[in-house]
Parts: sequence; C-alpha cells; structure tokens
Amino acid sequence: MDKLIVQGQTRLKGEVTVSGSKNACLPILAACLMTNEESLIHGVPKLVDIIRLSRLMGELGVKIERDHNDPFTVRLQVEDESKYLARYDLVRQMRASICVMGPLVAKRGRALISQPGGCAIGDRPIDLHLEGLRAMGAQYRLTSGGNISLRARRLKGRELFLGGPFGSSVLATANVMSAACLAEGTTVIESAACEPEIVDLADFLNKMGAKVSGQGSPRITIEGVKRLGGAEHTVIPDRIEAGTFMIAAAMTKGEVTVRNCQPDHMMAVTANLRRIGITIEKLNSSADAPADTVLVSARRKLKPLDVTTQPYPGFPTDLQAQLLAMLCLADGNSIVTDKVFPDRFMHVAELGRMGAQLRKQGPAVVVCGVKKLVGAPVMASDLRASAALVLAGLVAEGTTEVRRVYHIDRGYQHIEEKLNALGARIERVAE
Ligand code: UD1
Repeated sequence: MDKLIVQGQTRLKGEVTVSGSKNACLPILAACLMTNEESLIHGVPKLVDIIRLSRLMGELGVKIERDHNDPFTVRLQVEDESKYLARYDLVRQMRASICVMGPLVAKRGRALISQPGGCAIGDRPIDLHLEGLRAMGAQYRLTSGGNISLRARRLKGRELFLGGPFGSSVLATANVMSAACLAEGTTVIESAACEPEIVDLADFLNKMGAKVSGQGSPRITIEGVKRLGGAEHTVIPDRIEAGTFMIAAAMTKGEVTVRNCQPDHMMAVTANLRRIGITIEKLNSSADAPADTVLVSARRKLKPLDVTTQPYPGFPTDLQAQLLAMLCLADGNSIVTDKVFPDRFMHVAELGRMGAQLRKQGPAVVVCGVKKLVGAPVMASDLRASAALVLAGLVAEGTTEVRRVYHIDRGYQHIEEKLNALGARIERVAE
C-alpha cells in the first residue's frame, strides 16, 4: 500500500493538463457491449477504475486493446456474447461496475450483477436503476449470493420518472438511457441527470446509431433502434480533476494555467470560486473556439462561502471535500452542505487533525477559518477525500502523510506527478 508524503507551504505555479473524464469513460466503455462492431475511444485516462472496468468487460467477452499513448486509446470488440455475470469481487472494488447492467440486459437479454453495497461516502442504493429497467419489461430477481438477475426478451420503450429523494441519478440515467437505445419503441426519461458525462454518453450512443435527444436537459427521449454499430469518440475533459487543480492553485496562492478543461461544464464551480476571491480567466475563447484553458490565481485572503452540492448544474459533490479543505483557511465562517451524499464527510475528522475547525451538523459542516493548518499523518477514506487531504498538505506547516492513497489512484492520473510539476513536493512511498 502506498502513502503520499506531502511537504507543506508550497505555492503552485505553471501549467497542468487535465485528463479525460473518468465518469464519462465508464458508461461509454460499457455501452460498447451493445454492438458487435469495433469501437475506438480516445482520451481514456490511465486510472485504476478504468483498468477495473476493462477487466470486467474482458470477463464479459469483450476484447480490449490499449495503445501506449498517454492518455490512451482503447479499441473494443465483443467476441463472446454468452457472458452476463459481473461478479462480487469486481463490483465490490468499483461500484460503477453497475453501468454494464443496462447494456447487458438490452443486448444479451440477461444480466447477473452482484449487488453493490454502501461505501465510504454513504448508502448507495440502486433502486432507480432497477425501477427504470423493470418498467421497460426486465424481470427482476435477487438470487442467492446477493446477485441481481435481470432478464428481458426485448425491452419496451416507456415514459419514466427517474427522480430519487436526492434528485436525479447519474448512473441510473446512463443505464436506462443506454438500454432504451435497443428497446422497442420510444422511451422518455423525466428527471434525467443533466451532467456533461451523460451528454457525452448520449453523443457516443448517437454515433453508434442510437436516436437520443434532449440530453443535457431533465427530459431525454430515446427512440429505440434494432441494432447499434461501432463508433469512434474522444471523451470530454474531467471537470472534477480540473476543479481540483483550480482549488489547489487558489489554496496555495499560486498561479496555474489549467489546460484541457471546459469552463462551460464548470459554471457552478467557477462562480463559487470567484465568490471566494479567486481569479479565473479564460485564455483562448473566441466565437468559434470555446475556451479550453483557464488561468487561476489567488492573491488575497479567501472569503468564506455558504454552498450546497446539488446535481448538475449545481456545485458537484465530487468537489465538496476539496472545497471544504480550502475553506478551512478562509477569513471567516463557511457552511458546506452536501445534498447529494449527506454522509460524505469522512475527511472532516482528518482535517481536524491538521488544525482545521469544523463542526458537522446533519448534512452540513460549519467551517471556522483558521490562520494555518499543520502537517499530520492522515487517512484517506475515499477518492475525493484523499485529494482534499493532499491539498491540505500542500498548504500545511510541515509534513503531511496521506495514507491509503489507493483511493486517489482510482480517479486522478499521476496526481503527485502533476502537482510536483507545478512546484509541489510530494513523494509516493510504499508502506
Ligand atoms: C456518479 C458519479 C460520482 C458522483 C455522483 C453524484 C460515476 C461513475 N460516479 O455516481 O462520482 O459523486 O454521480 O454526482 O459517474 N440514488 C438513489 N437511488 C439510485 C441511485 C442513486 O437514491 O438508484 C441517490 C444516491 O444515493 C445519491 C443521489 O441519488 O444520493 C445521486 O447519486 P448518483 O447520481 O446515482 O451517483 P452515481 O451515479 O452512483
């Protein structure tokens, strides 16, 4: 197991390039189960979660080849359509394995998926995924060993409401939208997730020959087709990685050029960072070429903020921990509420060990800004919480040891290399 040793009080300066979006890639790779033709996906980040999904796809009879570029291009071709099991050992390691469920039941008429449990960020039900697929005619059964069995001859298009207690669901929308592409008739998803990753998936499905419209809005319409073909696609940049670097730049009072990001996907992030006093300039926008580079800098003391995470276009829950780490050093009291995952606050106690003053109250945390953080050994609990602790380590006095960094490798490509290229001093050592 590796840990990261972060030397504090650095000021980041330079340029960083954002990788392709993990959360866009996962359902796009899974959608390739729905064609017998070859697909080519460019801009795939080298991440543990991508490798895990590739393993699962391999077990599902898909031949996957990666080139040696960075980011890589993945070539996928279904060779054996008789498989339909996503086993516990893989689903346990990565909940997002659930994204093969819709494509499998739509194309192979059968899916047997180990039921994912909760995780460090809280209870993670999949009722909406099942409700959608069952409404389209899939027969559901919970089998021994905790596997979900779904069967269907051919799914039927339906009008569906996919909103849950916390709003829309990203992967439930991905599963139902993908499956509906091969259903008989038209499906309308009301309260669909509007995330850019869903738009990217819909764009990919349309390249495969699907008829999806309304993506990016809460009402998506899918006219089912009989077959889908192979397609070539480049995934969108990772808005969460981009946001993490923006926060890192601001926290360290640095000046960082962030390349390959789409500010249009990050309006809630940039608006809130500007409210805190961070300067974000788009560098290369013109009428025909939208900006993909921003310059982030922060000179003044950071102002406190009252922010609540929400489904897109709201402030993303995947940046809550990093924002919270930054607000620990703001000039005053902030309130950070997570309405998407109300228990996603494992980092609070660890930041407390570094001198932050935080008080959790239900789904919110009250942050009293302090003058400085101090380095300490801390434990990463999940992907984004680990990133928050690394950022805190960058500004803390002394050395911070972030343990269990396998979480961070799930979602950030070479985070310490990218931060070190900006002037950070982070070393990865085996424990
Ligand atoms: C995706 C992202 C994850 C991000 C999350 C919210 C991927 C691979 N992961 O996860 O990084 O943090 O969106 O933006 O894309 N819910 C239900 N029933 C369901 C499904 C979800 O009640 O069947 C609830 C969840 O508990 C949560 C909320 O809906 O409160 C949103 O979760 P959801 O959008 O489904 O998260 P994921 O798609 O799993």
